[in-house]
Amino acid sequence: MKQSTIIAPSILSADFARLGRDVTEVLEAGADWVHFDVMDNHYVPNLTIGAMVCKALRKHGIEAPIDVHLMVEPVDELVVQFAQAGASLISFHPEASRHVDRTIQLIRELGCRPGLALNPSTPLGQLHWTLEKLDMVLLMSVNPGFGGQSFIPHVLEKVQKVREMIDASGRDIRLQVDGGVKIDNIAKSAGAGADTFVAGSAIFGSQDYRDTISRMKANAATA
Ligand code: DX5
Ligand code: ZN
Repeated sequence: MKQSTIIAPSILSADFARLGRDVTEVLEAGADWVHFDVMDNHYVPNLTIGAMVCKALRKHGIEAPIDVHLMVEPVDELVVQFAQAGASLISFHPEASRHVDRTIQLIRELGCRPGLALNPSTPLGQLHWTLEKLDMVLLMSVNPGFGGQSFIPHVLEKVQKVREMIDASGRDIRLQVDGGVKIDNIAKSAGAGADTFVAGSAIFGSQDYRDTISRMKANAATA
């Protein structure tokens, strides 16, 4: 059963010269979560921000859930740092952890909600022995590393399959689509079974955050 629609702007596309203000504005404009993309120039060919920025956002007064997406290798040490810095959910890529089950346990032990992030070509078999332990499945609809890329259409097939798996499990697991999500394609992902949507450039690149977010929510609801 799909859960309530969540719009999680990715701060990768925010104005880093005034990050706290930009995040406050996008939440005031109706965003539900803050999607916090962590890249280490090892697992992906790009470098972004560490746990200290997550801590700074909490100190700035951000109370909304911070949805940390770790595109890093190794994973476990950064799970600890982000949990201590105020993360709410922590997703990681199975290829980046030697012991996926142990990393999922670690995230939960530290009081955060675990997610597994599957790249466009990563098979769904990765969910076989992990799905029941997750609070979210993150399906990448672009190859990880950069904002502003185009949505990869075959991912819609994966969304449908994972929706069936989640419904069969009978558990409240969120299905997140991440990458290339726009006002004019969000309905397709929602129709395929996603309930949680990351959007970076579509939101932070727009003139009116409130209008963009409300149109995304409306289009997701029509699906
Ligand atoms: C890519 C990140 C995505 C990205 C989304 O590696 O995981 O969250 O920032 O940005 P857009 O919505 O611009 O594709
Ligand atoms: Zn992401």
